[in-house]
Amino acid sequence: MTETGPSCRIVVLISGNGTNLEAINRACENQIIPGSVVGVISNQPDALGLTKARRAGIPTYVLDHRTFDTRGSFESQLQKLIDSMTPHVVVLAGFMRILGPKIVQHFLGRLLNIHPSLLPRYPGLNTHARVLKDGKKTHGVTVHFVTPKLDAGPIILQKTISVTIQDTEQTLAEKIRTEEHDIYPRAINWFALGRLQLIQNVAYLDGQKIIL
Ligand code: GRF
Repeated sequence: MTETGPSCRIVVLISGNGTNLEAINRACENQIIPGSVVGVISNQPDALGLTKARRAGIPTYVLDHRTFDTRGSFESQLQKLIDSMTPHVVVLAGFMRILGPKIVQHFLGRLLNIHPSLLPRYPGLNTHARVLKDGKKTHGVTVHFVTPKLDAGPIILQKTISVTIQDTEQTLAEKIRTEEHDIYPRAINWFALGRLQLIQNVAYLDGQKIIL
């Protein structure tokens, strides 16, 4: 297993509030993750997460997809910007753009995402509303490697929550967020310690296939 070194360089991509970014940065500052967030990129110029990152002294970059003619030109600029920060790991934390196969392939094995459902159930958007509509008793959150198929990459870590009749989209979002802030830093810590790998589309922890 290859450790990423004494300090794992983490680039975080966001589009919104950046609460996962905060949790990850806190874990770095508290030396729970042996690394640091070396840059935050948002496709939304007014993302609240950018303000949080700046306050934390993290370099921030805005790459507004609307200012590019094509998805390809946006992604090639994004790839260049990420590469310029020489990260060990690229973390999608509420980044609301689907990445195409070229950029995903470029960062394959070091590109992580968090998704608010128990994948493979409920890929895509509006997961809380769909879970409530279906009357499910459980819901959850998943950290996974990103591969070209949306929300379908090998799973690293999941956390289940129970859904009660009192739950609303908002309460589910709050419960899920709490779990996200626990499991995302944990998964990134594994990566930083060289414990996590993607080999031929299978996720491994300490050399063992991750089976859920
Ligand atoms: C999280 O719920 C995450 O699962 C989803 O987007 C949300 C981001 O929240 N991909 P935040 O911006 O980190 O607060």
